[in-house]
Amino acid sequence: MMASAEDGTNAGDAAQEMSRTSAEKDVLARQILDRPGIAQIKPEFLLLDHKIKISEEFLSNKTKEKLEASKEEKTENGDNEGGPPPSKRMKMKLKGRNKNRPVHQKQDSSLKMCPAILHEQECRFGDKCKFSHDVKKFMADKPEDLGPTCVNFQKFGRCQYGISCRFGKSHMTEDFRNIINESLYAEMKTKKVVRNVLDKDLQHKLWKRKYNFEKANKNTAQIQKEVRERVELEKVQREGKKRVECTDTAETDHGNSVEKVKSEIGSDIESKTDNQTISTESDVLLQTSDGTKQSEASVCLSDSEGIRLRPQEKKLIDFSNKLYLAPLTTVGNLPFRRICKGMGVDITCCEMALSTNILQGQMSEWALLKRHESEDLFGVQICGAFPDTLTRCCQLINDELSVDFVDLNCGCPIDLVFKKIHGRSREQRYTRLADWEYIDECAKLGAPMPVFGNGDLLSYEDLDACLKTNASGGMVARGALIKPWIFTEMKERRHWDISANERFDMLKSYVNFGLEHWGSDLQGVENTRRFLLEWLSFLYRYIPVGVLDQVPQKINERPPYYVGRNDLETLLASSNCGDWIKISEMLLGPVPEGFNFLPKHKANAYK
Ligand SMILES: Cc1cc2nc3c(=O)[nH]c(=O)nc-3n(C[C@H](O)[C@H](O)[C@H](O)COP(=O)(O)O)c2cc1C
Ligand SMILES: [Zn+2]
Ligand SMILES: [Zn+2]
Repeated sequence: MMASAEDGTNAGDAAQEMSRTSAEKDVLARQILDRPGIAQIKPEFLLLDHKIKISEEFLSNKTKEKLEASKEEKTENGDNEGGPPPSKRMKMKLKGRNKNRPVHQKQDSSLKMCPAILHEQECRFGDKCKFSHDVKKFMADKPEDLGPTCVNFQKFGRCQYGISCRFGKSHMTEDFRNIINESLYAEMKTKKVVRNVLDKDLQHKLWKRKYNFEKANKNTAQIQKEVRERVELEKVQREGKKRVECTDTAETDHGNSVEKVKSEIGSDIESKTDNQTISTESDVLLQTSDGTKQSEASVCLSDSEGIRLRPQEKKLIDFSNKLYLAPLTTVGNLPFRRICKGMGVDITCCEMALSTNILQGQMSEWALLKRHESEDLFGVQICGAFPDTLTRCCQLINDELSVDFVDLNCGCPIDLVFKKIHGRSREQRYTRLADWEYIDECAKLGAPMPVFGNGDLLSYEDLDACLKTNASGGMVARGALIKPWIFTEMKERRHWDISANERFDMLKSYVNFGLEHWGSDLQGVENTRRFLLEWLSFLYRYIPVGVLDQVPQKINERPPYYVGRNDLETLLASSNCGDWIKISEMLLGPVPEGFNFLPKHKANAYK
């Protein structure tokens, strides 16, 4: 059962295939390709006898126990007749989002070099410092460098990781002093390559709750007052049993659609409407409260009031005909967004950040808000439940950060109205394709507020269908993870038969961006590896254009097991977690001892 990473690729299967007659092969190929939901690839690339392999090598003990338990269950149930095949059953056990992921092993601090010593400064803790001060020992124990050049030294003229850099030889004297390219360093110091870095002063103010939120508080109070007045007014209207008639023909036309939107939002909102009123049939729900004291400002505005933009907002961005990279938790990190910018995406957005954590000045949450200089149209996505905290958070963002827009994620219902209108209800999940007619209705209702069509985009043809609607543009999420060059394809209206080498070069760029962002010391390298592995758990789903029988690939179709046109293409198509780790080792050297990995978003690591 133990399979190594090497077993993940399919040399053994190929040998078995050799012994078949071509007629037998044809029959087998048809059986595979005729299964529902399978992507159509050219039969000559099919792996007819793929045996599902479990790569257990890099699983934590806890996950292994889980697997064992499902094996035992299988034995107890006898010969398993009628049930799903064992591998499928194991997958079932491990399906969905992996919540019990192993906690990363923290480095023992006595083994870690003291940050002061690394920066060639004196340590103010002296002998009491919990970190190591022994440079010679550190250097003697340090593993071989991962490569001859350091991205940070090359780009900034100084590598801030000094002797702890895993590429450190390139910027170190014989007596272990950090070399600085003074002219480049001086030049780069003046540039703001990455913006929205939390400075100590601001962090202190937030920690001490000394930040002045007067503007936000005033706004919230004003809106709460308006809403209360409005609720009062409507109460009076209702009591008089006067129904507000829609005279506007356009509004009447949209009546059904509004009903549809409301029913999509569902009873969820109805149950929360005790202290709020839905005024006319054609009102657009902008925000709902959770009904607690803090957040009595639940806002229902009519078309004319709610959607009219304030003068300050009008000078903002032209959203029309733009390609938007969706916010993506974990995988939509800054290095990944740089890759997508290189591929032609127009709008980028940070990973979802929690407004309360931002307001508290939490470093890890602020790290999500960082903006790379290549991101010329950039927004932050914040999530929260209370209008007052969200307003304060928006003030903070507006005052302190460089952003072009704020994307509010207040949970699913608001998504429907605000921006992320997937033409797909929650019940549909990812199995049925997006319904563009529905998006069209929503976009009409939302005008002049820009509405981006989002859901299942994987080719320029998919985008065409999206843009036939009244949507301002297309937003891509999984499609960008599967093939970031989707933005190039969409802009140039072509199917790019990108080579495996080109794809590998893209991964090299990602790794370099990662070392720049997360660091080129041991911790930075391992962070980069983890984010790379998370991304690889999407990337393998790409089927090369030259392998496909029917172009373009559809996002809801599963690839059959196949061999690529060369070894690298085969490796990049592997759904085996052990192979992803192998790819990471080709880019970042061997994994550290005791390494384990389970992707956050996928159970696909077990094929
Ligand atoms: C891995 C992953 C992470 C996501 N993270 C977020 C997020 O942080 N905020 C958000 O609003 N939507 C998030 N989404 C939803 C996507 O933005 C998008 O709406 C959804 O995946 C549908 O688009 P698609 O069919 O192009 O994937 C995420 C989706 C995926 C697959
Ligand atoms: Zn020290
Ligand atoms: Zn370095």
